[in-house]
Amino acid sequence: MKICPKCNTTFDDNFSLCPYDQRVLEQEPFIGKLFQDKYLVESRIGKGGMGVVYRAQDPGNGQYRAIKMLAPEMSTNQEVHDRFLLECQMLEKLQHTHIVKLYESGKTDYGMLFMVMEFIEGKSLKSVIDERVAAGNSFSPIETLDMLEPIAEALSFAHDNGIIHRDLKPDNIMVSKIDNEKSKTTLLDLGIAKMRNNSGETVAHLTVPGQIVGTAFYMSPEQWESKKIDNRIDIYAFGAVIHEMIAGKKAFPGPKIPDLIRQHMIMPRPRLEGVPEAFAELLLRSIAKEKEERPTSIINFVKDLRLMLEQVEREPENVQSTIEASKEAATSTPQAELQNDDSSNEEQNQNKPGFLSSLKRLFGR
Ligand SMILES: Nc1ncnc2c1ncn2[C@@H]1O[C@H](COP(=O)(O)OP(=O)(O)OP(=O)(O)O)[C@@H](O)[C@H]1O
Ligand SMILES: [Mg+2]
Repeated sequence: MKICPKCNTTFDDNFSLCPYDQRVLEQEPFIGKLFQDKYLVESRIGKGGMGVVYRAQDPGNGQYRAIKMLAPEMSTNQEVHDRFLLECQMLEKLQHTHIVKLYESGKTDYGMLFMVMEFIEGKSLKSVIDERVAAGNSFSPIETLDMLEPIAEALSFAHDNGIIHRDLKPDNIMVSKIDNEKSKTTLLDLGIAKMRNNSGETVAHLTVPGQIVGTAFYMSPEQWESKKIDNRIDIYAFGAVIHEMIAGKKAFPGPKIPDLIRQHMIMPRPRLEGVPEAFAELLLRSIAKEKEERPTSIINFVKDLRLMLEQVEREPENVQSTIEASKEAATSTPQAELQNDDSSNEEQNQNKPGFLSSLKRLFGR
């Protein structure tokens, strides 16, 4: 069987090009087969920077699962391999209503790493944003906070447990409909970006030279510079997502990697228009280039944003005091603090002038 890497339509082996979007078809070894003697693989959901995600059914209980099969290069690097299994053991224990459940992880007989997750019926937040923008609209501040506050709760829970997401972006948030008015948001891929960072060359999610996907739009300056990271990298990415939903365009739009590096590291941060002054000010702090200027608690950050909106409606003149209060809250030490994987190699780092080395690494020079 063959599959189109773009639209995921499957074809017989004698096809070589997708008739819908002219892409070269790939061999598809899993669909229609039983995986690990347990899960009947039905279709491919998508392909990301670390591997391919399938929808499968557990015939034992009839329930659907999402199985992420990691790219072969992840399995062949022993360090990545060990870290993946260790990280998954930890994630299996991390239960939260807004974090995708991880049921099982491991390695097949032929050496491929995989994780079996709860299947979430719905769309990625990226598709939801794209649809809204294509229709010429964006999200109101309240709508944005309603959708993202559960994600902030999930991240806050992860941070309290010493886990940093590292790859927060709209592609890693699922939106599922509960009814016509309500939707539920769920966080995906918590903590596993660590594996990608450690494998080096895919740190900024560069697939084709000069072309970028997802991650780099939300990457904090300290990640670009391979500096010490803590939970404030998630707050930076989170602020960039809030900005994007309300503005209807990316906070750091690129489009090319050098533009993106300049936007994240040097250029003035984009200020959100059409929202209360205090809201824009606080949001700007979340995407501060210096992590010390950002809020430390993601959940307090969202609650403060909400407060700003409510307060502006009630008593516009008192908003400044709320900003001052939240600035004070930002000075405490973050709980989840660890060394960026890329900077853990002391020897390498001695020769790194940070920003420049990021560029060299990205362009392979
Ligand atoms: N548990 C799940 N339930 C339903 N869909 C999922 C699940 N996990 C992932 N997906 C979907 O599978 C697709 C591929 O996900 P994947 O995580 O591999 O790629 P990505 O998020 O674009 O990139 P990255 O590798 O940086 O995470 C995405 O469209 C995502 O929404
Ligand atoms: Mg993902």
